Amino acid sequence: MLRAPEPELMDEQEQARAYALADFAEVNRGFVEDFAARFPEIARGRIVDLGCGPGNIAVLVAKRLPGSRVTAVDGAEAMLAHARRAVAQAGLQDRITLVRGLIPGAVDGPFDAVISNSLLHHLHYPEMLWQEIVRITVPGSPVFLMDLMRPESEARAREIVETFSRDEPEMLKRDFFASLCAAFTADEVKAQLAAANLSHLSIETPTDRHLIVAGRR
Ligand SMILES: C[S@@+](CC[C@H](N)C(=O)[O-])C[C@H]1O[C@@H](n2cnc3c(N)ncnc32)[C@H](O)[C@@H]1O
Repeated sequence: MLRAPEPELMDEQEQARAYALADFAEVNRGFVEDFAARFPEIARGRIVDLGCGPGNIAVLVAKRLPGSRVTAVDGAEAMLAHARRAVAQAGLQDRITLVRGLIPGAVDGPFDAVISNSLLHHLHYPEMLWQEIVRITVPGSPVFLMDLMRPESEARAREIVETFSRDEPEMLKRDFFASLCAAFTADEVKAQLAAANLSHLSIETPTDRHLIVAGRR
């Protein structure tokens, strides 16, 4: 199916609340463990989390890597309000800096590593994300990004939503469906990486609905 873009920012209160309350704990833990295992040297680095949403991954990273400092960026105040609470509850205000701003341009590096989960599919100009990653890192910096992957049809997208979010609130299911339809295919991401001279990053597809881009800038 053709890509159907969705709004970039998740700035509606109810939408941000539904997302913040959803239980992504297992996926988020997997994301952080995978990142830490692939790039053990980052334990003491400056890490930027692009499109941090409610901040759960930033908190998990800071806890998992106690020597690191995390800058977490999002353009949606509704999401950052949840992130501020999560960071305060974890007592990590001294190690996590929350930045409200639009990507690209919200922060200047250099950072030692970039992480990002579920941001890419929101972007109307996805090539900007890859250019931004190049701008705010140095050669050799770890890059670790996960996102949804667009299924072949709307019918398959609906099936995925029903299989994995059957008991979730309607708003979350609606957003999940829209995100699947807005996501990129592995071939499209491959072309984006080539355009940014990042073809050496690997594209992995751990499930039929997720892709991971990993490697060093
Ligand atoms: C699906 S959420 C993912 C949140 C978080 N990374 C997670 O995995 O829980 C995507 C987030 O990216 C933010 N976002 C989308 N486009 C953005 C942009 N151009 N600049 C800054 N933030 C953006 C949205 O506001 C939203 O909070």
